[in-house]
Amino acid sequence: MADHAVNDAGAEPVYKTDALIAEDINAYLEMHQNKELLRFITCGSVDDGKSTLIGRLLYDSKMIFEDQLAALEADSKRVGTQGGEIDFALLVDGLAAEREQGITIDVAYRFFATEKRKFIVADTPGHEQYTRNMVTGASTADLAVILIDARKGVLTQTRRHSFLAHLIGIRHIVLAVNKMDLVGYDQAVFDRIVADYSTFATSIGITAFTAIPISGFKGDNITLAPSASTPWYSGPSLIEHLEAVQIESAAAQERPFRMPVQWVNRPNLDFRGFAGLISAGSVKPGDAIRVASSGRTSTIRSIVTMDGQLDEAVAGQSVTLTLDDEIDCSRGDVIAIADAPPESADQFEATIVWMSDEALTPGRGYWLKLATQTVTATVAAPKYEIDVNTMEHLATKCLSLNAIGVAEVTTDRAITFEPYADSRELGGFILIDKITNATVAAGMIHFSLRRAQNIHWQALEISRAQHAAMKGQQPAVLWFTGLSGSGKSTIANMVEKKLHANGRHTFLLDGDNIRHALNKDLGFTDADRIENIRRVGEVAKLMTDAGLIVLTAFISPFRAERELVRSMMPEGEFLEIHIDTPLSVAEERDVKGLYKKARSGELKNFTGIDSPYEAPDAPEIRIDTTQTTPEEAAELIVNRLLGAWAPDL
Ligand code: ADX
Repeated sequence: MADHAVNDAGAEPVYKTDALIAEDINAYLEMHQNKELLRFITCGSVDDGKSTLIGRLLYDSKMIFEDQLAALEADSKRVGTQGGEIDFALLVDGLAAEREQGITIDVAYRFFATEKRKFIVADTPGHEQYTRNMVTGASTADLAVILIDARKGVLTQTRRHSFLAHLIGIRHIVLAVNKMDLVGYDQAVFDRIVADYSTFATSIGITAFTAIPISGFKGDNITLAPSASTPWYSGPSLIEHLEAVQIESAAAQERPFRMPVQWVNRPNLDFRGFAGLISAGSVKPGDAIRVASSGRTSTIRSIVTMDGQLDEAVAGQSVTLTLDDEIDCSRGDVIAIADAPPESADQFEATIVWMSDEALTPGRGYWLKLATQTVTATVAAPKYEIDVNTMEHLATKCLSLNAIGVAEVTTDRAITFEPYADSRELGGFILIDKITNATVAAGMIHFSLRRAQNIHWQALEISRAQHAAMKGQQPAVLWFTGLSGSGKSTIANMVEKKLHANGRHTFLLDGDNIRHALNKDLGFTDADRIENIRRVGEVAKLMTDAGLIVLTAFISPFRAERELVRSMMPEGEFLEIHIDTPLSVAEERDVKGLYKKARSGELKNFTGIDSPYEAPDAPEIRIDTTQTTPEEAAELIVNRLLGAWAPDL
């Protein structure tokens, strides 16, 4: 039994093993190796009896170890539960508290097994970070147990949890009406709650659910059914149901074959295999396949595993495939059955769950990871946000922590995907902040936008290299960044004059000028600055395509957008130049009188005053203007560009 903690960012899980149980984990896994695995989540708060229920499941399946049990009995006596019964909540809460001392855990996973199956239950604490936790815990779950306190009935949180479970694509919903002992096992109470829930479930698209009257405390209908106290109930007990429902991976085997390629295995010239985890369907040697992004086809020659060759492999297995033809295929590609491949597109609509303290910035570039593909993606301003308590659609411009919205996503190149409703593996993605590497969102693709599919790149006859060759120079972008009044324009002007005098073909894009023309529709909010820099980046890129050396002088206050422009340029053609002037010095100079206005409140969102400036961590060149004159700075930059290193100034 191990606890898989998911770190704060919700990115790769951090594995932490309880010292108490560390030795048993291997023995345990081996013992249950050949059993099917069902993953489920429990939704509800401690008040609903969630901890008691989980404790009961662990206890009844004998997954509590002797020493834990002894401690539990002692604890129960100490706090004095009714009738000296064991308080299972103590077990779960105790473990949780212990764990919380070390690291913050958003989702705790527990293992248990019965004769028929093994189980992993993700216990998502119901505190205010519910959305992020639930999405993290639920993303691989086959089933959700929605706990209801029979005395309270369907609550706002019941609706919220059900909505999230449905959103995340959990196909099996169990409505566990708990604490039946406290309502005298009254069938009328149970029926009323089921009817209430049914109305709500239908309204959000849940077509089926299984309702079970239980008592976690007394054990009714948990492992054995029917309980003598509920003679009117003839359905399965919770465990019977958990043992019987179809597991997602079994369902996945019935879908068309897909395998996202994890890596290309090429130990020598005679062998080229594509390794990955089969996400859907099955495959046999001789099957016709297609690499989804390129459309290239071939035939499966062999299926190789650590234990030798296979005649067939199915969803859930990790294999290496070899093909009859040498076709282009690399990490991120999806190998699919030839006649039913998934689609590829670079624009789609998705539901996005925001999981970071820092809100979504529409237009900003994030890493998007989907299966084994990683691309740069931007999210447009959301079409709407969904209130998770009322399911209402709200107008919004961005998404903050725990918000769920629907928005268009654009990627910098086409990715292979399927709607999330058809495939979690190829329809679900995460967004990662490029600077902090934190996972900031989870997304679920609805469909691609045709618009993008109908615009194709026009192949041009005269290449970038030919443009540059005619000018006899290597194109480059000299990206000046720094506070207003730091001296960007002054130095950039001098650099351009020197390059020009040197016979170079240059062009200077200057903030103040561009904002009078191309970008006159933009102001100084974060979103407008991001769009300002995005456009300038695109223009600079076009100009380098035409063979020019481009100089840009913009505050460009955000690292993310400077990195975006860097990523658009070929390696080595982007030189970031930080004109480093302390705020106090720029303010002292106040060439345009803007700092004074900003200080007096007349001018809002002024960089350095009430809008941030993120200095570059590792610019190619840094000019300390308190130590270097503009003339010296220009000399240094030109020498650096033209290859001759100047002495450090
Ligand atoms: S950026 O942040 O989007 O890169 P940009 O370099 O184009 O800014 O424009 C900055 C210039 O606009 C400044 O040098 C200054 O002259 C002027 N300006 C007007 N309002 C502001 C403001 N609120 N913040 C910064 N600069 C401003």
